[in-house]
Amino acid sequence: MDIPVNETERQLYYIEKCREIVEGLEKEYGRKLTCGIFTFGCQMNFHDSEKIRASLERMGFVPTDTEDADFVLYNTCTVRENANERVYGRLGQIKALKKKRNDRMIIALCGCMMQEPHVIEKIRKSYGYVDIVFGTHNIYKMAELLYRRLTSGSQIIDIWKEAKDIVEDVPADRKFSFKAGVNIMYGCNNFCSYCIVPYVRGRERSREPEDIVKEVKQYVEDGAKEVMLLGQNVNSYGKNLERDVTFAGLLKMMEDIPGLERIRFMTSHPKDLSDELIKVMAESDRICKHIHLPLQSGSSRILKAMNRHYTKEQYLELVDKLKAAMPDISITTDIIVGFPGEDDDDLEETLDVVRKAGFDSAFTFQYSKRTGTPAAAMENQVSEEDMTRRFNRLLEVVQETATARTARFEGKTAGVLVEDINRQDKSMVTGRLENNTVVHFKGDASLIGKIVDVRLDECKGFYYIGSAVDS
Ligand code: 5AD
Ligand code: SF4
Repeated sequence: MDIPVNETERQLYYIEKCREIVEGLEKEYGRKLTCGIFTFGCQMNFHDSEKIRASLERMGFVPTDTEDADFVLYNTCTVRENANERVYGRLGQIKALKKKRNDRMIIALCGCMMQEPHVIEKIRKSYGYVDIVFGTHNIYKMAELLYRRLTSGSQIIDIWKEAKDIVEDVPADRKFSFKAGVNIMYGCNNFCSYCIVPYVRGRERSREPEDIVKEVKQYVEDGAKEVMLLGQNVNSYGKNLERDVTFAGLLKMMEDIPGLERIRFMTSHPKDLSDELIKVMAESDRICKHIHLPLQSGSSRILKAMNRHYTKEQYLELVDKLKAAMPDISITTDIIVGFPGEDDDDLEETLDVVRKAGFDSAFTFQYSKRTGTPAAAMENQVSEEDMTRRFNRLLEVVQETATARTARFEGKTAGVLVEDINRQDKSMVTGRLENNTVVHFKGDASLIGKIVDVRLDECKGFYYIGSAVDS
């Protein structure tokens, strides 16, 4: 058979080729081959890992949770320095495992960290036992790279500076059939001055709406109830497409898909959140009333230095608008402390927004200097000591306000999409409200994937203990 030219078919061809080799190894070893996938970072990476896992399963690998496996992959993140360090730490440890297996283990690295030239240099120099390295733009080529490695025996490093065309995925079996993530766009054009994402994920590229709708329909046919539309900045969806389509327009298309009960999306950039989107959300009974709206800082001066294109007042106005249109909406956020030049007054501004906005939860980060970003070259980098002090203070205020806000549904009844058996108490199940809050209640595995009416008896900070009500 000739190697297909169409990329998706080409990868299916290489999956088949790998499968033949895996089968041969199974016979030789007298057992199935295992794969361990370890993911760092954001939802995008988890989604990519899910696709990789599906391809590996197609090849005959059996997924495992341990690094003592025949194929081990680290899908890396580089948004903050400590993520990089963790990967180097894990690589250091896995060397011994590979040796124990007489080198018969394939170690692969992919993801955002691999898009940084200094990382690749270091891997070439000091991590010769890593077998395959690829980046964010050629994840879909994993099968081909693995085949090359299996047939050549040498280290394969394939990193692209930028994306070529958007390649539609090889169809995959998904782990959570009731819940699916879908990329609607890739990359980011915002260049927030602290952030490395635009450099490692490339320019913003939206997928065609038909392709997205087709994928979601397939998931729903396979039993999905909920879909999460993923992008670094979903609010600017469609801007690079030839035809006129907005994110709000795309959401409307999603609403026309029969059987799809919950539609989620993330992440929203405050500067691009339109009135049209708020209206579409408010009028829909299927778009979840939850928005992840990163604040980053509450100080207009710092926001300007961050290149965020909104002020403290504009952010708060947006929150008011959202709450006026949807009184029960949950707003979650990301906040960075210790951006260069930040002082205690700036932190007070941030705390002020936290109190006024009433976030349901907030991810808080200490600023991490990323080489190549404008902020890394700024003067007045904040000392460790100030950073930690401000971080702890922020955490205190976030916890106070978020706990109070989350409790607002106590005593009410609401739909919970059940995700799993509770880890600690097997007589209970765990699921999520429309607004993404976690709920635990008595139940069994038969409820997984169903939306159950639950009375929210007691709020325990950031989650609820409830009880199913007969409908
Ligand atoms: N340092 C700390 N936090 C960062 N983020 C992005 N870049 C950095 C950085 N250099 C945070 C932002 C973003 C989240 C995904 O990670 O808050 O919204
Ligand atoms: Fe990074 Fe800003 Fe793009 Fe988010 S919007 S990925 S913080 S550059």
